[in-house]
Amino acid sequence: MGELTRLAVLLSGRGSNLVALAEACARGEVPAEIALAISNHPAAPGLERARERGIPVTAIAAKGLTREEHEAGVAAAIVAAGAEWVCLAGYMRLLSPAFVARFPQRIVNIHPALLPSFPGLEAQRQAWAYGVKLSGCTVHLVDAGCDSGPVVLQRTVPVLDDDTPETLAARILEQEHIAYPAALRMLLTRAWRLDGRRVVFD
Ligand code: GRF
Repeated sequence: MGELTRLAVLLSGRGSNLVALAEACARGEVPAEIALAISNHPAAPGLERARERGIPVTAIAAKGLTREEHEAGVAAAIVAAGAEWVCLAGYMRLLSPAFVARFPQRIVNIHPALLPSFPGLEAQRQAWAYGVKLSGCTVHLVDAGCDSGPVVLQRTVPVLDDDTPETLAARILEQEHIAYPAALRMLLTRAWRLDGRRVVFD
C-alpha cells in the first residue's frame, strides 16, 4: 500500500462531509487519512463526529483575534499535523489570499450548488427561490474569492415542484457525500493540471 496523504479538514458545523471523507478513507477509496479536524467554533458538532472516529481535533476560535492572527493559528495547526491538503467542509470563514497562497492548489471546498451559480450562503435556498430545475454540488479548488476556484467535480440533482429548501438541501447533501470523496480520490490518484481555470485530468 502506498503512503497515505494527510488531510486537514476545516469545519464550522455539523460535519457530515467530514464523516463521509473519513469513511471513504477508512474503506480505502481515498488514499488519505484525516490528520486533524479544525473548527473555528469549539462547540461545532463536527468536532465530536471527528473525536468519535479517533481523529485529532482542535478548535481555534476567531473571537478577539485579527483575521491574520486567526489564520496564522490555523496554518500552524495544519503544518504541525503534517497535513498536505486542506479540505473545507462547511467552514464558514473566507480565507485570505495569504492563507490560500500558503497551500497552493492544495485547498478544496464543497459547495451545495452548481457553481458559478449561487455562490455564498444558503446556496440551496438561492437555487430553490430562483426556480432552477437542476441543482447539485461542486467540489472546487479554493482561490482567494468566495466559491470561485477551479471546478474539480460536480454532481446534479433535480429540483422538484414540491421541494422546500430543506428537501432540496437533503437531496444535494446525499450527492455531496459521494462527490467530495470522489473528487479527492481523483486529485490524489490521477495526474492533473490547470489549463486556465479548467482542471484537466490526463
Ligand atoms: C454543506 O452543505 C457544504 O456543501 C457547505 O456546508 C455544508 C456543510 O455540511 N459548504 P456538513 O457540516 O459537512 O454536514
